[in-house]
Amino acid sequence: MYYNVKNILFNYGFGPKQEYSNIYMNLYNALVKAIVNRDLVENGKLPPSRVLAKDLKISRSTVIKAYDILILEKYIYSVPGSGCFVASPKDKKIRINLNAQTEQGNYPRISKRGVSFIRNIQPIKTGNMGIAFRPGLPPLDIFPVQQWQQLSNDYWKTIRSSELSYSNTFGLECLRENISNYLKIYRNINCDAEQIIITTGSLHSLFLIGNALINKKDGVVIENPTYPHAYSLFNSLRAKIFSTHIDEEGISVASIKCQNPKLVYTTPSNQYPSGIKMSMKRRMELLKWANKENTFIVEDDYDHEFSNWEKPLTSIYGLDGQERVIYLGTFNKLLHPSIRMGYMIVPYYLLDAIRALYEQSSRFVPPSMQKTLSTFIERDYLNKHLRKVIETSILRKQMFVQHFEDKFANRFILESNPLGLHIIAKDRQPFSDILTSSILAKKGITAHPFSNYFIGNSLSSGLVMGYASVNEKIIKKKLEMMHRVLDAAPR
Ligand SMILES: Cc1ncc(COP(=O)(O)O)c(C=O)c1O
Repeated sequence: MYYNVKNILFNYGFGPKQEYSNIYMNLYNALVKAIVNRDLVENGKLPPSRVLAKDLKISRSTVIKAYDILILEKYIYSVPGSGCFVASPKDKKIRINLNAQTEQGNYPRISKRGVSFIRNIQPIKTGNMGIAFRPGLPPLDIFPVQQWQQLSNDYWKTIRSSELSYSNTFGLECLRENISNYLKIYRNINCDAEQIIITTGSLHSLFLIGNALINKKDGVVIENPTYPHAYSLFNSLRAKIFSTHIDEEGISVASIKCQNPKLVYTTPSNQYPSGIKMSMKRRMELLKWANKENTFIVEDDYDHEFSNWEKPLTSIYGLDGQERVIYLGTFNKLLHPSIRMGYMIVPYYLLDAIRALYEQSSRFVPPSMQKTLSTFIERDYLNKHLRKVIETSILRKQMFVQHFEDKFANRFILESNPLGLHIIAKDRQPFSDILTSSILAKKGITAHPFSNYFIGNSLSSGLVMGYASVNEKIIKKKLEMMHRVLDAAPR
């Protein structure tokens, strides 16, 4: 016996007028509300995915995706061979309060913008912060801690009390100058230091850009698959998203089906997460198209140090002569994510808006960190570190690929992406990668579900995994463990 949940779900907002960009999120949210409000009680059985899909006239994979997230977040549990059941509601108090605020009106109403951000927050949190094999991490263990500490000590030894006061929001002059020089040498980019704005990273930059540019229903073109936080952000801002398929040369303007787009978000050096490098021809076509359509291009060059190492291609920013491109760079990938420093190069036209938003939302990145980084660049330590990082990453990648193929050749195909800091292991047979990811997370292994990077229906399943931060000895051990865990898991 299982619940007939169709009417309950409609009562909780699941219906033809979708408020969410993804149907599975709509279903997920309706089920969460039904569970926290006790319409679905502990240990009650949910309908099988096939039955619910038929009842709601949606695809079975959509139901499976929603169930997977609910399992991950412990709203429901699965019993192999029997189905899914409602879990104990304990530990879910935060969500109950959230519902009380948004729906019962016991408190001042949250703004539409706030609700939109809540609804579009990334659905998947593995709850596991383990380093092996979290994508996007550089070799953390070779970061020159002592060198950094020395520079930081130097800063504090010579500090004047006036430097402890408020600082320029957009970044220290010396750091912006050094980044401008660094970009000239390493990326062949010419820009004025005053166009550079220091942020806590690319996501921070993107947030400022989105808020400066996007009104509700503005067209935003995004590659599919993409960086999930970028998609969530533009959705939260209630942009009209046009996802664009990419082929082996990157975005093709012919495939962009959007009238009057406000901006295009792209990762041309190393398409995230597919690893495709946009060809020069496509870069030029995109720029020409952006000029014709009066659109901005947001070029997220999040890991150019890695992806341009062997065969550097001029950035779209470098090709641009008409201030069409906003360029995002970050040190959180090359150095380490906890350093929280990145930058953007902003066209003069947008500078005032971005600056105003920044000044009214936060102050500045700590000057001690900025000054230390500035000296780190100036003394060429960054260059030396970069070389070591590349060397180590290449070595670790070789080890990862070798051991992974040894263990998982029957189950996954590794995408042979020569760039970047992650690798995609595609399922040979379609499978719930969300479930695989959650099973691994419980054992302390991080592997992000590939399907989670797609806009709308996922076109593929697999695992997105990082290798560069994992020490050579640990790679093999962790992959062996992963093999044991997946072997024992039901398929
Ligand atoms: C494509 C892409 N852009 C931006 C970022 C964010 O970088 P940051 O840590 O500097 O905010 C990431 C992080 O994973 C990313 O993958």
